Amino acid sequence: MNLILFGPPGAGKGTQAEFISKNFQMPHISTGDMLRSAIKNGTDFGLKAKSMMERGELVSDDIVLGIVEERLKQNDCTNGFILDGFPRTIAQADALSTILDKLDQKLDYVLALDVSDDVIVKRLSGRRTCPACGKGYHILYESPVNEGLCNVCNTPLVQRDDDTEETVINRLKVYKEQTEPLVEYYRINKILNVVSGHGTISDIQQRINTILVNRS
Ligand code: AP5
Ligand code: MG
Repeated sequence: MNLILFGPPGAGKGTQAEFISKNFQMPHISTGDMLRSAIKNGTDFGLKAKSMMERGELVSDDIVLGIVEERLKQNDCTNGFILDGFPRTIAQADALSTILDKLDQKLDYVLALDVSDDVIVKRLSGRRTCPACGKGYHILYESPVNEGLCNVCNTPLVQRDDDTEETVINRLKVYKEQTEPLVEYYRINKILNVVSGHGTISDIQQRINTILVNRS
């Protein structure tokens, strides 16, 4: 089962992808996470991506498409994968289709999380992440057992560099202009499932689970 988990910044893509990945044993492929890891490791890709990510702009296709193609070629993707944060433009969706043709694979579902702007702002402003193991939290909705510390490795939690108010406003603008048109693109391809992203993390997990269990 090959999935795209689609939605605006802060919709809960990473949170739900983690759940699907564990439940259905499929790798979670987040272009945002891969780019942040490239920045952390100081690679050429990371250096090129850093300023664009800090401004909330899209990183160029020559970087992103190469990373995705390399990742999808790996053995753990042969029995399914979850793409999170990719594709983000019609051009990326066309490129994905070409990559999957080459690998003799196809997309099965696009799960589009539908969340209002006011909820997005609350989710992003309270998000905290463990810089060591990558586990995500929210100061109100998914708080760590010990304030400010990761439950898994006890590392002090941090706020993402692009979760500042100014950058969040730009990320939402970029989403509406360049990424939201993909909803119609995949609706026409008849693989779109719109899922309400409102409610608790577990409410949304149940909605997704119902779709995937009934169709896989
Ligand atoms: P990326 O990392 O993909 O960020 P994004 O799309 O902006 O989405 P987020 O990761 O911010 O949110 P999410 O939907 O994963 O929400 P989460 O689960 O964390 O991209 C970052 C940047 O990288 C881009 O701006 C761009 O520069 C670059 N980039 C990436 N991919 C690219 C591409 N393909 N092309 C070009 N550039 C690219 O949840 C958010 C918070 O809410 C968490 O604290 C969570 O605990 C909480 N939460 C989640 N669900 C709920 C719930 N139901 N109730 C309450 N709280 C909840
Ligand atoms: Mg994410």
